[in-house]
Amino acid sequence: MKVEAAFLTLALGFISVNFGGFCYGALQVGFYRGKCGFADVEAIVAGVITAQFFRDPSTVAALLRLQFHDCFVNGCDASILVDGISNQAKIAVENACPGVVSCADLIAIATRDVVFLSGGGRYDVQTGRRDGLVSVAKNVSLPGPAISVPEAIAAFSDKGLTVTDMVLLLGAHSVGFAHCSFIRDRLFNFENTGRPDPSMDPFLANILGSRCPPFATVDNTVNLDQKFI
Ligand code: HEM
Repeated sequence: MKVEAAFLTLALGFISVNFGGFCYGALQVGFYRGKCGFADVEAIVAGVITAQFFRDPSTVAALLRLQFHDCFVNGCDASILVDGISNQAKIAVENACPGVVSCADLIAIATRDVVFLSGGGRYDVQTGRRDGLVSVAKNVSLPGPAISVPEAIAAFSDKGLTVTDMVLLLGAHSVGFAHCSFIRDRLFNFENTGRPDPSMDPFLANILGSRCPPFATVDNTVNLDQKFI
């Protein structure tokens, strides 16, 4: 899949899913209009995020993953940041209007902006989320790196998400990296057979294997988008 197409898929994923079902209260596009004096909250965030993106394009992968991890566990409530958020977007909106904009909304707006900047589609984000006050490690129910497709479907279904939602959201894996430690068993010792996973394309397994040697002491990374491997 082309990067643009993958991003478009992701943008559509966020439009159709937008994790709306997990959030509290009536969300609306432009919730902060008129709530921050004359300041335009979304424009403030866009300014900070644009500068950050051009300093470090890996911001897109970091934010996408952050939003998924925030929203999947207990809805988009910023519980992933319960120890406090000290990034520049938060500082900028707090300077404009203290205590008005939730961290959960900041994550959602900033992710939307950075997806757009990286060549993906643009989608409207509803705002008006309140931040949660609870963050408990044992409640974290994120799908693990070794789960099968049926297990992933079940994990998404538990959160009210369909297979189509899941496929669209997984378009996020068109950016970013994965550590070799997550795939090394499939490359060299699938289910303790001493051989690669037979369901893998041998050509791909070879390329990944050269980047992820069996006894490496350093945990290298590979591109999630196999087109760039
Ligand atoms: C079945 C569901 C999923 C599983 C099992 C999964 C697993 C993983 C794993 C193992 C990595 C590599 C992490 C590392 O090596 O440090 C990763 C990276 C990533 N995931 Fe997922 N993921 C899932 C769904 C999603 C969804 C729904 C999104 C966003 C909408 C997402 C966004 C990302 C991004 C952007 C990265 C790259 C992070 C970076 O390079 O900084 N993932 N994921």
